[in-house]
Amino acid sequence: MAQAETRHPAHPVPAPYTGRTAIDLDVVREIMSHFHYDDFEEAQELILSALQEVNEHFGWVSYEAAEIVAEALGTTVNRVYALLTFYADFRTEPRGVHHLLVCHGVSCYVLGSQALVQHIRDHYGIGDGETTADEQLSLQVVNGCLGVCDWSPVVKLDDSYSGHQTPESLTALINRAIAGKQAKEESNGAHSAD
Ligand code: FES
Repeated sequence: MAQAETRHPAHPVPAPYTGRTAIDLDVVREIMSHFHYDDFEEAQELILSALQEVNEHFGWVSYEAAEIVAEALGTTVNRVYALLTFYADFRTEPRGVHHLLVCHGVSCYVLGSQALVQHIRDHYGIGDGETTADEQLSLQVVNGCLGVCDWSPVVKLDDSYSGHQTPESLTALINRAIAGKQAKEESNGAHSAD
């Protein structure tokens, strides 16, 4: 893994939705059994690698899981938790089925990203880092440019970027994603019942 300093926290790549709202600490211990450290200086690389593996497996990292990482790598939970909360790739809460990034870089901010965030709060009842009660949608506000300023204001819903968003178009985008996924699951269920 690259040095921590070279990772850019403004371009989060959220782990896929896993549906795992609880973290099995025995699985975290099993993951950690593959990590070994030689000295404290190298520990940061290992901490980030370990957090990445836990994050990808569960979709998020709990405080208890961070404690196990710290213990296994001979460091403090404060150090592990500081790294966990610094990088936007990592989540400390389970994410929803759909993950929405709203760019809050300068261009998007000037062209209305604040109104999008406020709309999500009003319409879906969630703020930055939160997930709706039905676990369908998580919001993450990115305080950095997503690199497609020509499309400002820009959002990224799951794997797709969408530009020139308004509150109305964003609602339509989210509703389509939720309905599309549910229809796909129902279709898969119908086929497996055949
Ligand atoms: S500021 Fe949002 S894409 Fe550049």
